[in-house]
This record gives sequence, structure tokens and C-alpha cells, in this order.
Amino acid sequence: MKRALLLAALGLASAAPALADLALATSKNCMSCHAVERKILGPSFKEVAAKYKDNKGAPDMLAGKIIKGGSGVWGQVPMPANNQVSEADAKKLAAWVLSTK
Ligand code: HEC
Repeated sequence: MKRALLLAALGLASAAPALADLALATSKNCMSCHAVERKILGPSFKEVAAKYKDNKGAPDMLAGKIIKGGSGVWGQVPMPANNQVSEADAKKLAAWVLSTK
């Protein structure tokens, strides 16, 4: 019983940052084109995380793309610039996207 409680507490502690970042992504409108588990207009964040899992430059590269937009990596549809996203938030979002694998 104690053990179960401890495990539950650990689970919550590790889930909390992920939820905060999901809330950030939702507030920045990312989730109208993306979902963690499935493709909408843009690729699922799991697919993005899998594609760049061995790429050490991915956090910075993706943070830049999140702000400026991008095209041609996942298909014909480009991602428009997200000018409302600060550099600090873009880095947080890139790290979170890469953690969803
Ligand atoms: C209007 C729809 C739309 C919105 C809003 C949007 N995206 Fe995208 N996103 C896309 C599309 C489409 C692509 C695929 C672009 C491509 O093929 O290069 C993409 C690609 C990406 C990629 C992968 C880039 C790559 O080069 O592999 C990441 C990471 C990403 N988006 C994160 C975000 C985040 C974080 C936000 C919120 C700040 C966001 N997106 C908002 C449509 C959108």
C-alpha cells in the first residue's frame, strides 16, 4: 500500500512538467495543427521525436522552426511562423516535443 502510494506520487511528479508543456502548447495554438499521438495538419509529436531521437542539434533546430515555421520535411503543407512564441518558450516546446517519443 505504502509502495503503491509512493509510486503514484512519483508518477505524478514526472507527469507534471509534461502537462505544463501541453498547456503551453495549447495556449500557443500548436494543438490546433498537432497532436501527440496522431497526425492532424502537422506530424504527431511522437513522430517528430522518433525522427530526431539521435540528432543532437534537434532541440535548437526545432526551436528555430517553431518560431519561423518550416516546410518540406513532412509533406506538402508548410507550418506558418509562430511569431507569438518567445525563444524561451520555443526551446521548452522543442524539448517537450522531443520527450514525447
Ligand atoms: C497552422 C498549423 C500549424 C500550427 C499552428 C503549428 N504547426 Fe507545427 N507543423 C505544421 C506542419 C504542416 C508541419 C510540417 C512542416 C514540414 O513538412 O516541414 C509542422 C511541423 C512541426 C515540427 C517538426 C519540424 C521539422 O522540421 O521536422 C515541430 C517540432 C512543430 N511543428 C511544432 C509546433 C509547435 C510547438 C507549434 C506551436 C507553437 C506548432 N508546431 C504550430 C503545422 C502547424
